Amino acid sequence: MTVAAHDGGLGKDLPIGSRHYRAWVGSSEIYDIMSATQFSLLTFLGLREHHYLLDIGCGSLRAGRLFIPYLLRGRYFGIEPEQWLIEEGIKNHLGQDLVQLRQPTFSNDSNFTLTTFGRKFDYLIAQSIFSHASQSQIVRCLSEAQKVMEPAAIFAANFAEGEQNYTGKEWVYPELVTYTLEHLTALAEEQGLVCTPIEWPRVNKLRWVVFTHPEHARHLPDLSAIDVTRLSYLENELRLCRERLAAVEGHPYVRLGLTIRRFIHRLRSG
Ligand SMILES: C[S@@+](CC[C@H](N)C(=O)[O-])C[C@H]1O[C@@H](n2cnc3c(N)ncnc32)[C@H](O)[C@@H]1O
Repeated sequence: MTVAAHDGGLGKDLPIGSRHYRAWVGSSEIYDIMSATQFSLLTFLGLREHHYLLDIGCGSLRAGRLFIPYLLRGRYFGIEPEQWLIEEGIKNHLGQDLVQLRQPTFSNDSNFTLTTFGRKFDYLIAQSIFSHASQSQIVRCLSEAQKVMEPAAIFAANFAEGEQNYTGKEWVYPELVTYTLEHLTALAEEQGLVCTPIEWPRVNKLRWVVFTHPEHARHLPDLSAIDVTRLSYLENELRLCRERLAAVEGHPYVRLGLTIRRFIHRLRSG
């Protein structure tokens, strides 16, 4: 795939799914934002540097490029069937020195064998995985997750919410497959996990949920407090107020009044 040189090889002109380390995993236009939103979400949910993190379908380390430097040595684990993506991610984001320092662990397993690392995790993330996975893949992932989640672990994942549940047997890419929240919740319950929706920004239109062990579900931070709609409402109000203020200040009488006030102020201050 030819990559336009004018964007520094960032692949911004390439269609999603092109064989380029950014375009393969989604829109290159928002590659950086998808790094940031995953990092912000998990740190908001309490991720600390000593925690163990499993990045399911870690791709070209779009999130790993922030998590790997943040976490202590040996705390980041990634599963990704496409080895070339991991290599490109290391080459473009980290470099061998940082890999030596932080020693992330990778697996190319393609059957969601999360137990392959032989350890448990405090946090798990699956960004844009259930939006392409079949039900049997989701069930396999959740069943494996249940085995490797520490008692208080948080597993954040997003999915394409829709009215239909995808019934095909295959991974679909780059097109999306949809599920209802109720169905995803039921699949999680079958695997002994609780699925809680969270109001985290849907940068790529996918809805975020967190999976926990049942006994930990009630210890989650208050996720309903992230009222993004309210924030954008306030931002809009602020913009309208600024426009109104500019219009008032631009009125000839007001401009005259302001000039007189400045003149008086200068006279008074000598
Ligand atoms: C839309 S990309 C998202 C990548 C990454 N999570 C991110 O946010 O950049 C989906 C990723 O899932 C990977 N993938 C496909 N089948 C998989 C499987 N069975 N297990 C784990 N990852 C898989 C793809 O190779 C691709 O890197």
